[in-house]
This record gives sequence, structure tokens and C-alpha cells, in this order.
Amino acid sequence: MRPEAVIKNNKNDSIKNIIISAAEIKEKIRETARLLDERYRGKPLLLVSILKGSFIFLADLCREMTIPCEIGFMRVSSYYDGTSSSGNVNILMDLDCDISNYHVVIAEDIIDTGRTLSEVIKLLKSRSPLSLEVVTLLDKPEKRLIDLKADISLFTIPDLFVVGYGLDCGEKYRDLPYIAEYPDE
Ligand code: XMP
Ligand code: MG
Repeated sequence: MRPEAVIKNNKNDSIKNIIISAAEIKEKIRETARLLDERYRGKPLLLVSILKGSFIFLADLCREMTIPCEIGFMRVSSYYDGTSSSGNVNILMDLDCDISNYHVVIAEDIIDTGRTLSEVIKLLKSRSPLSLEVVTLLDKPEKRLIDLKADISLFTIPDLFVVGYGLDCGEKYRDLPYIAEYPDE
């Protein structure tokens, strides 16, 4: 573990079970960046970060990519209240550009039931981008309620509530450099 990860872990002593290390994340992001470089070389590319959870993922991913891209942000209400679902999806902040001349890649932190992303996809498709793909850092397929599959998924995880690397519980733990299980007690 990196020294700063130890420090972070000491700060958050309820977080014990690291399920994906910072080094594993870095490696997968490198592979994903190479894939996106290949797919979108020479094409107008807009990477869309779904805030807040994917801000670190997108920041690391775009810096590993070697092709030029533009960045957009959307904020979608998390229906998570603590660690449980309430079922509502609202667009709190929308993109500020016309996407019809871009290949759009949505960067999401985690796909759980699929509700959030299916709403975002529906909305962005209605704006006729040149193409639309989804890259998710984490996939929790056991919890899926909507038939939805990311084009690229970096890690598949079991049905655990996780925090770190952008993901929160009550706005805490986004700053952890790894993905850890949030204890269920
Ligand atoms: P759905 O169910 O719509 O959920 O696919 C996607 C959104 O729910 C949040 N989410 C989590 N956040 N740890 C988190 O910190 C988790 O284990 C988790 N599971 C779902 C997240 O905001 C995601 O975008
Ligand atoms: Mg999210």
C-alpha cells in the first residue's frame, strides 16, 4: 500500500477492507486509456463525468489518454440516502454544450440497479451525439434492475456498498485512493 493510503486509512479507521488497491486501479485505467485512444483517435471526443462520484476516475482517465478530448460534467441526484436506494433520478446539472458533433463517452463511478445511467443515456441519446458509449469504473451486476451493460467496465464487484476513489457515504471517503467496503454495521 502507498504510504499516503496508510495515512488515509488511519484517518478513516472504520474503513478496513480494501477491495481494489490504488495500484490495481491505476493499471486498469492505463489499459482503458489505451482502448479509448484506439477507438477515438482523430475523432471529436467528449468525456462526460457524472458528478460527483466519477470526478477522480475521469481526471485520472483523461490524463492517461494520449488523444485530445473535451470534458463535460453532469450531476445526477444519487438516490442513495446513506447506503440504501430511494428510487428517484433527477438531473441536477446538465451539460453546457451541444453534443451533436461529438462522440460521447460517459464516465460513471458505479452501475448498480442501472436506473441512474439509463436515464442519462436516454437524455443524451435524444440529443443525437455522433456515438455514445459508457465506461464505468465499477459494476455491481447482482443488483441490476434495468437491462444495461457498460461498453467498458474496469472492475466487477459483488453486492457490497463501497467507498473511496470518488465514491462516498454521506459525502465522506471520496478522497481515499482505493476502493473499500463500507462496513454494514
Ligand atoms: P444505480 O442503482 O442507479 O446507481 O445504477 C448508481 C449510483 O448509485 C450510487 N451507488 C453507490 N455509491 N457506493 C457508493 O458510494 C456504492 O456501493 C454504490 N452503489 C451505487 C452511485 O452514486 C452511482 O452513481
Ligand atoms: Mg454516481
